[in-house]
Amino acid sequence: AMPKTMTGKRILVSAGPTQEQVDPVRYLTNHSSGKMGYAIAQAAKNAGADVILVSGPVHLDPPPGIKTIPIISTRDLEKAITEAFETCDALIMAAAPSDYRPAVYLDNKMKKGEEDLSLALTRNPDILSAVKEIKKPHQVLVGFAAESQNVEGYAQDKLKRKGLDMIIANDITAANAGFGHDVNTVTVIDRAGQVDHWPTMSKDRLAAQIIERVDKLLNEKKSL
Ligand code: PMT
Repeated sequence: AMPKTMTGKRILVSAGPTQEQVDPVRYLTNHSSGKMGYAIAQAAKNAGADVILVSGPVHLDPPPGIKTIPIISTRDLEKAITEAFETCDALIMAAAPSDYRPAVYLDNKMKKGEEDLSLALTRNPDILSAVKEIKKPHQVLVGFAAESQNVEGYAQDKLKRKGLDMIIANDITAANAGFGHDVNTVTVIDRAGQVDHWPTMSKDRLAAQIIERVDKLLNEKKSL
């Protein structure tokens, strides 16, 4: 069993995709299954933490003993995360929120016409950037990056821009990595500039290693 090194700590985790409604029957989404975020929530609980999991629509059972808050859209996710974050020691954003939503929601089902159609989209809020504004010095912020090119470069850029303590980058074009799989292959970059290429491993094992690093970051801040 894992040593309960996180007893008394509150960890907030997001998981899964969002859905952005077009009309009563259609939505925009992505391939996130929620597996990575759920594994992280479970690993934090195994380490003794108090865990809050904010989850988009997924086909996974809510983990027993973990407070799970269901959300649908990126705006729901932002509200749930910013509310819960104030009482938490760390946020780990494994969710894949949609960056855009339809500019207008249609109350009635969109009718088919003869012409081609374009759908106007508007920007969703960036949740990590919103959290950066309310973050206190003792709190730890961890993001993910799903990239299909220049993985390390884009991840470094997101780490700085979003004010993160650590970022976990998945190359979503690599075999056995990212969306939907039971295993993942990631590069971990922290604020101190340490870059670690971790071998392919199960999302459960990866989650335990991520939680170990988060615990270390929390302890470093405490001793400052
Ligand atoms: O769910 P699985 O099938 O197990 O797959 C796991 C995963 C591939 C979804 C996960 O490991 C992952 O990479 N999640 C982040 C996906 C993503 O949105 O990446 P991004 O590069 O677009 O965003 C960077 C970071 O900003 C992420 O932490 C994201 O949660 C966050 N973000 C993104 C958009 C937004 N509007 N607000 C945010 O805070």
